[in-house]
Amino acid sequence: MVADTIHVHTHLAGHPTYHILGHDLVLDVPIPALILSAIGAAFLLRYTLSFFRLILELTVLPGKNVKRYQARDGKTWALVTGCTGGIGLEFARQLAKNKFNVVLVGRRKTALDEVAQELESKYGVETKSFVVDVATPGSARDEALTQIELFSKSNDLGVLINNVGASHLMPVPFAETDRTEMTQIIETNINWTIFLTRAVIPSMIARSSSRGSPKSLIMTIGSLSGRIPSPLLATYSGTKAALSTWTKALAKEVEKKGVEVELVQAAFVVSNMSKIRRSSALVPTPRNFVQSVLTSFGQPRGAQGRPYERTPFWTHAFLDYAVGFAGYLSEVSGIKVIDKMHKDIRKRAIRKYQREKEREGKSE
Ligand SMILES: NC(=O)c1ccc[n+]([C@@H]2O[C@H](COP(=O)([O-])OP(=O)(O)OC[C@H]3O[C@@H](n4cnc5c(N)ncnc54)[C@H](OP(=O)(O)O)[C@@H]3O)[C@@H](O)[C@H]2O)c1
Repeated sequence: MVADTIHVHTHLAGHPTYHILGHDLVLDVPIPALILSAIGAAFLLRYTLSFFRLILELTVLPGKNVKRYQARDGKTWALVTGCTGGIGLEFARQLAKNKFNVVLVGRRKTALDEVAQELESKYGVETKSFVVDVATPGSARDEALTQIELFSKSNDLGVLINNVGASHLMPVPFAETDRTEMTQIIETNINWTIFLTRAVIPSMIARSSSRGSPKSLIMTIGSLSGRIPSPLLATYSGTKAALSTWTKALAKEVEKKGVEVELVQAAFVVSNMSKIRRSSALVPTPRNFVQSVLTSFGQPRGAQGRPYERTPFWTHAFLDYAVGFAGYLSEVSGIKVIDKMHKDIRKRAIRKYQREKEREGKSE
């Protein structure tokens, strides 16, 4: 039964009485307080559910299988940029272990040959290498993009890992940043990534848009520096933030065409770029990091509520979740913490550089 009318009249200040279905209902709580409580309860429920989901994803829920991007004949290729070291090398290895043929993109031919040799002999897959300095615009880079585009048209390219990235040599105030360093960061992180994706995406759409065909994947490696603005790494931080927005816009355009586009967030990982040599709970090895990425497809983990984005490694996931939890407040404190951390790192890096210079001076 539905009440055709609800009568409200106030007989005590702030205590309205509702006449509902023939009953008088006196409200002891002022309406504004009731509304605020309801909003609070809704937020609490949202965060409780998302935290519960985060824990489930990190413990028991299985991610979607990476094989979803493979064609039935097992001859699918995965392209990994920046695959001669760090995270990219590990992507190349683990994708080869999963029986993807691998397209290797890097700037050093000898290093690419070594990786190719390792993957072919250890995992019995095919490889194809493209030698290109992705930070340098011009005819060589354009030619590499054309060749990769042609390759994608005549082979089953199902996975693109936009891994290559460049950062500052050390934390540096924006006003003192060298223009060459800035150009290198922007060309590598943004222009190359966007141009390469543009070169291969038509072939991916073609392979994945018909019913029953395998999905394609475009994964770009982001950074929590793009999520929490990072003073003294302003250019790097800005490029990673740009990749996040670009990913989401593109993801929506092609999701109905069978191409999944996503940004994978990372905090520190042991590598040349981070200059961290020893792993810890907060700083995984590239191997453990990549393993977490390839076993958690479809799970946002630390990026709860943010579409087309995920933060797979468990400590990074908690960090990312915490930043999202308190919204504005945590971003303000996050920026403060990072500002202090980068100032300290800069001081130490400058001292180290000066010591090395002195040592060089003595040995001459
Ligand atoms: N490590 C971290 O803590 C961390 C944190 C967040 C996000 N990330 C992101 O993760 C990705 C991989 O970083 P990483 O730590 O693995 O870096 P890394 O150890 O420095 O490796 C970078 C790879 O990219 C290649 N590369 C760099 N510049 C290139 C260029 N101009 N042309 C062609 N290849 C080039 C390097 O080749 P060479 O072997 O020739 O140098 C190497 O193979 C980046 O996008 C980075 O922003 C890293």
